[in-house]
Amino acid sequence: MTVSDPVVESVVATISRSATEIRQGLIGRRGTVDEENPSGETQAEADVWADELLGDRLAAIDGVGQYASEERAEIVDCGDDPSSTDAYAVAVDPLDGSSNLKSNNAMGTIFGVYDAALPARGDTLVAAGFVLYGPITTMVIATDELITEYELSGGERTVVDRDVTLPAEPVVYGFGGRVPDWPDDFRAYAREIESELKLRYGGALIGDVNQVLTYGGTFGYPGLESRPEGKLRLQFEGNPIGYVVERAGGRSSNGSQSLLTVEPDDLHDRTPVHVGNEELIDRLEDALA
Ligand code: F6P
Ligand code: MN
Repeated sequence: MTVSDPVVESVVATISRSATEIRQGLIGRRGTVDEENPSGETQAEADVWADELLGDRLAAIDGVGQYASEERAEIVDCGDDPSSTDAYAVAVDPLDGSSNLKSNNAMGTIFGVYDAALPARGDTLVAAGFVLYGPITTMVIATDELITEYELSGGERTVVDRDVTLPAEPVVYGFGGRVPDWPDDFRAYAREIESELKLRYGGALIGDVNQVLTYGGTFGYPGLESRPEGKLRLQFEGNPIGYVVERAGGRSSNGSQSLLTVEPDDLHDRTPVHVGNEELIDRLEDALA
């Protein structure tokens, strides 16, 4: 099953072909380098390596005008300006949850294809998705036309779910940040959810969001007392994940509005991220109002 837009298909094909290689390349790259990413997080060897690999390949695609990543400060200009031509901008979190490398837990690669120059609103996305490096490698690709889950093997992608839809009955939740750092209104909401759903938190956004897509429920990384803007990045994490979950029939929110309608100021802006079944995100917004 391919995507009808040839540029988007090239982007997703490049990422899916690279995923097997990235997975294999993690071996021997579990240490850290003496550098921080633009968000001030210590970089793993694998973060830097995966960013260079994806950056080189995605920037070379005809019709990709910009490449940006969580792991580099500046946007790479690689052709036409996405705001004035039919080119797209590709934003990537090359290795989401890379702190899980040390403990050998799940990680992912997140991508968003924006029909606008970065930083851009999420409602300019034409496609978004992720690779999940779990016991097997899977990929979810969402466009205007489809939201499909694939298994990846040897560079091939095989459909496992043609139309990913959030289950109507929510089962799992996962909330990031230390509980004493949660604002009171979020803590009160979390207490209610804890009594209704089952905790599943793995520490990689992609792993945790894929549980929500599979079982129904909600994932949240809220604004914190110590950092009201939260932890996750709007361009590389919030928007692509918001797009995927909304396409699967759920909702996304920064606490008060869909992530896809948030105006970005800076490429590396952080935002509170909440995604999941509509009823749960509506309740969250009521609790924070
Ligand atoms: O990319 C940031 C990230 O690793 C996400 O994948 C994950 O959801 C979050 O940070 C985990 O943060 P914490 O270690 O605070 O639970
Ligand atoms: Mn990440």
